[in-house]
Amino acid sequence: MSTPLRLGIAGLGTVGTGVVRIVRQKASLLEARTGRPVVISAVSARSRDKDRGVSLAGYAWEDDPVALARRADVDVFVELMGGSDGPAKAATEAAIAAGKDVVTANKAMLAHHGQALALAAEAAGRVIRFEAAVAGGIPVVKALTEGLAGNEITRVMGVMNGTCNYILTRMQATGQGYNALFEEAARLGYLEADPNLDVGGIDAGHKLALLAAIAFGCQVDFDAVSLEGIQSITLDDIRRAADMGYRIKLLGVAQMTGRGLESRMSPCLVPAGSPIGQLEGGTNMVVLEGDSVEQIVLRGPGAGMGPTASAVMADVIDIARGTRLSTFGQPAATLTRCTPASCATPAPYYLRMALVDKPGALAKVATCLGEAGVSIDRMRQYQHEESAAPVLIVTHKTNREALDTALAAIRRLDVLAEAPVALRIEQV
Ligand code: HSE
Repeated sequence: MSTPLRLGIAGLGTVGTGVVRIVRQKASLLEARTGRPVVISAVSARSRDKDRGVSLAGYAWEDDPVALARRADVDVFVELMGGSDGPAKAATEAAIAAGKDVVTANKAMLAHHGQALALAAEAAGRVIRFEAAVAGGIPVVKALTEGLAGNEITRVMGVMNGTCNYILTRMQATGQGYNALFEEAARLGYLEADPNLDVGGIDAGHKLALLAAIAFGCQVDFDAVSLEGIQSITLDDIRRAADMGYRIKLLGVAQMTGRGLESRMSPCLVPAGSPIGQLEGGTNMVVLEGDSVEQIVLRGPGAGMGPTASAVMADVIDIARGTRLSTFGQPAATLTRCTPASCATPAPYYLRMALVDKPGALAKVATCLGEAGVSIDRMRQYQHEESAAPVLIVTHKTNREALDTALAAIRRLDVLAEAPVALRIEQV
């Protein structure tokens, strides 16, 4: 009989339990596809007694994930604990040092330490795979690393946080405000333990940093991602954007520009009829553009037991089959340090302002825009009863620097009743 591939699983939350379930229930399918049995030797989690609805019979138990990672009967350390540092990183490093391959769903750890871990793994002749870290069940890491490996990637874009997309699309559908829908998402268990990871754009920013490293051959650099969350998006913005034919999405975009790697995760307006504009609820979508393939769109569940465990198993199966890929698609030592260039590409912007309703206010705003070289494409002032007039402006394509200059000048005027909102309009 061929040699089994022996897994040590650290973390038995939703994803870990899903992986145990697949290994137990799909043993013959896994063996047929890989040519060898895939088995679990040992597991580790915070609580041994918790009922997870799946049998752990026959698996050794380790309280300490580092001890699990070092076990002689483990070939692949499956890290499903999460957290950028702490036990997840310590156990991953221990696994590599002990000569184990690693499969992880941990976007935060790789976004912060991916380059060092990839170098260590390659020096030890081991692999680190992370399909489950980005967009849950969507095989986007494989698509970039393998399916599109013959392309020069021109742009990577996506909605990669289902919770934010849920909140934004429910605001649109129900007319409820951000706070009410944040509470609803919390009640449904959609939010991370630290909700700022979701609504602050950090979780999605981690994912974008990982995809950008593969797409552009750069050392993963989370600090280079320009981040903005959805907390300040109002129902007014959602409605006004819809009025003008747009939807608001927490959108990640990474592209190489003449000034460096532009990578940003921020609320953007996208055309309502575009595939991203039509993406509803907690679903994820990633758009990949390459010089030969042109554009492909991947859509699917970005979280949850089945989808994320499916992605973990894809990596386990690769290792069982003997497929050994560099962590970020090329040897880590050849990845370059890319210059970050936030918002280097010009774009039209949506501006929402509440102007003091007195003669000349709008003219002063228009002058500031004009003097900074920002041209107005469309403008609307809405009927109002309060003293402040709601004004919407859509600009022609402009550089972010020019827009910031104009906004700074507008803030110095005596015409704003509240801080202006500026959102990029992305052509998708
Ligand atoms: N919290 C994430 C989301 C799932 O809402 O998409 C895990 O990354």
